[in-house]
Amino acid sequence: MTKNTSRAQPLDARARNARRRHLRVAMLAAIFSLFALYIAWYEAHGPSTQRNDELPITQARADDASHAVNGAALPATSVGSDLVKRGEYLARVGDCVACHTADKARPFAGGLPINTPFGTIVTPNITPDPDTGIGQWSDADFLRAMHEGIGKGGERLYPAFPYAEYTKVTDQDVLAIRAYLNTLTPIHYAPPGNSLNFPFNQRWLMVFWNLFNFTEGRFVPDPKQSAELNRGAYLVQGLAHCEECHTPRNFTQGLKSSARFSGAVQAGWHAYNITSDKNSGVGNWSDDELVSYLSTGAAPGRANAAGPMAEVVTDSTQYLTREDLRSIVAYLRAVPPISGGESRPRDQWGNPADDVTALRGTAVHAVNGAQLFVANCASCHGWTGQGVGASAPGAYPSLIHNSAAGASDANNLAMVILYGVTRTTKQADVLMPAFANQLTDDQVAAITNYVTKQFGNPQSTVTADQVGILRTQQ
Ligand code: HEC
Ligand code: HEC
Ligand code: HEC
Repeated sequence: MTKNTSRAQPLDARARNARRRHLRVAMLAAIFSLFALYIAWYEAHGPSTQRNDELPITQARADDASHAVNGAALPATSVGSDLVKRGEYLARVGDCVACHTADKARPFAGGLPINTPFGTIVTPNITPDPDTGIGQWSDADFLRAMHEGIGKGGERLYPAFPYAEYTKVTDQDVLAIRAYLNTLTPIHYAPPGNSLNFPFNQRWLMVFWNLFNFTEGRFVPDPKQSAELNRGAYLVQGLAHCEECHTPRNFTQGLKSSARFSGAVQAGWHAYNITSDKNSGVGNWSDDELVSYLSTGAAPGRANAAGPMAEVVTDSTQYLTREDLRSIVAYLRAVPPISGGESRPRDQWGNPADDVTALRGTAVHAVNGAQLFVANCASCHGWTGQGVGASAPGAYPSLIHNSAAGASDANNLAMVILYGVTRTTKQADVLMPAFANQLTDDQVAAITNYVTKQFGNPQSTVTADQVGILRTQQ
């Protein structure tokens, strides 16, 4: 969260803080070096990590399975094409295309840079090209990558690849995805390399990450729960990897298991708390509203999906069957509530602007939020903020009862103004223009603060400096 970064402090307090910060950094560096030494030793002398890596439990099973599903041995029966169809569906649930596509003309061929706190990781080509893709991978190699985060050459993969979730996916489903990927047109394209800072460019260090943040193993259904809830848990915790964005991280960038689904900020966007908490989460949404949000990206009167969530809807959740969406919702309902301290739900703020004369002003100021709102936003959202087109697909939504305006921070609102909204679904091509090139940081801050004050949570404010930071994040 970018709030309150510029609070004034007396000079000596600041010097003290700086000293403390240096000390903390030095301590962390020392601890880290010790760990690195320990792990280097462990890799060389420790018990059977090496052997485990070479002979994963899944390998034997996978080798068997590979005969059953892979390649030329099988005639192209309807069983084969059903498998491929299932694999395509599952690849959508897992949203592989979102990360493994940089250029729409080269789907699944990778090349997308993913920014992490440790540097940039570029996604690999997962088309069946034998030289630059995964054409030469065996099914066992593929299972090992998805379940253990280990690449074909035995190298550790970075957790920007969500194997911490994919490990829960059954062998059968992973191999269906593989069967589907095998049918893609091979694309000969070698993505550029990663640019990670030392020591994070040392892949073996992921042993250390895994030690703290990764438990290998398939999803185990809870016999006390309904089949629907178990299906939802399997999808959400596994392929759909909702927690990659919605669960906060610890200092090693692992998911904080004590705060699951309670919301996190990543690359400027706040993936909100989606626990069943009535004020901080989505506990007051109906099942139908949640299904509507996941299948269209809009739940009128509550929220719209922009940024990373718009991509999730566009590439993934809109394709899910009703039954799977219902089961995801059933599972989210069962997620224990976690309060972030909000006093009312994000979508329960705001009043329509009621005096257009106040918005006119005599002299036009470059940074008057109300005037900027009328000039840039009112043509679509109305000067009252109530939107146009009510709840029809692709309508201009009301900014009153909207989670971006009513959230306890103004991140997403500022991001929406900077980057607009792009979402393609079966119902509509939803488009709000981006204002990053038209408006200065001052102006974006002024509109944001006007919108939260008038239509949303008046305690959520943003400074021009904070907008400047958000501008560099996408
Ligand atoms: C959130 C982003 C993201 C998603 C979603 C994602 N991947 Fe990846 N994937 C990555 C990154 C990043 C790497 C590279 C990791 C590395 O270099 O260590 C990777 C690596 C891989 C690899 C190893 C390839 C190689 O050459 O080493 C395979 C296989 C793979 N992904 C398959 C999939 C499949 C199948 C899906 C969908 C079920 C998927 N990925 C979804 C980010 C993602
Ligand atoms: C790539 C990151 C990412 C992933 C993966 C993701 N989300 Fe989101 N989600 C977001 C962001 C960011 C928002 C806020 C969007 C906005 O304000 O426009 C959001 C918003 C939401 C909201 C609306 C909350 C509100 O009050 O506005 C729901 C519900 C939701 N996500 C559910 C899910 C579910 C269920 C999954 C898994 C199927 C999921 N998300 C996966 C990033 C993600
Ligand atoms: C050309 C029409 C248009 C203009 C101009 C416009 N918007 Fe939008 N706005 C949209 C559309 C379309 C959506 C997305 C609707 C949906 O998600 O179904 C949207 C969505 C939003 C959302 C909800 C995003 C979310 O994540 O929940 C906010 C907030 C918003 N606009 C604020 C603004 C502000 C502030 C301005 C002026 C700087 C503005 N809009 C200008 C059309 C417009």
